[in-house]
Amino acid sequence: MNIKIAPSMLSADFANLERDLKEVEKNGADYLHVDIMDGHFVPNITIGPDQVAQLRKTVAIPFDVHLMITEPLKYIDQFADAGADIITVHVESDGDIQACLDAIVKKGVRPGLVVSPDTSLEVIKPYLDQLSMILIMCVYPGFGGQSYIPASTEKIRACRQLIGNRSIELQVDGGINFNTLKDVVEAGANVIVSGSCLFKGDMKENIGQFRKIIQR
Ligand code: DX5
Ligand code: ZN
Repeated sequence: MNIKIAPSMLSADFANLERDLKEVEKNGADYLHVDIMDGHFVPNITIGPDQVAQLRKTVAIPFDVHLMITEPLKYIDQFADAGADIITVHVESDGDIQACLDAIVKKGVRPGLVVSPDTSLEVIKPYLDQLSMILIMCVYPGFGGQSYIPASTEKIRACRQLIGNRSIELQVDGGINFNTLKDVVEAGANVIVSGSCLFKGDMKENIGQFRKIIQR
């Protein structure tokens, strides 16, 4: 399976974002994972569509935009216009999930749904045939640097089963590092988000180390 690496911008140096994003791109990452938090759906705030649009001009790597916001439908067009290539929406957010997926697709962006640790995979079943990506949260959303929740591994495995032969990417986010990477890949994840691990020290070495573990 083709395993993709998506460094999470949340752990970048926000005083040097252009430099850090170029580093991500130069070292062969597949997507840039962009965490959008509204201080309401999660107890943390990051950036909005205007900032994403500015960052979009600095690199060509696909932007994978993870919306941790209460009312995603209100902002989908703006994030699409800002240059998102993939937009994922939490199934726990307020409002009409089908309307969100429709809005994303209408903008020509790849749609995905996210499930938090306490949410059952059952809720995404009705949407499966429309999804380009499913994101399994392996920590409670809101902050980088948390520990991987071990029960996530079984959920990833179950999700891979659920996907069957559909061409849906299975993304994992939260607590992925040199120790947890092997388990999530073996369970069937193919897009690996990692923030604190990849941005600590040398990005090139860290991505190289990730690729080595994935190939084992
Ligand atoms: C958490 C975010 C993650 C976060 C992951 O709510 O969605 O993308 O940046 O950070 P690490 O890899 O440090 O757990
Ligand atoms: Zn994320």
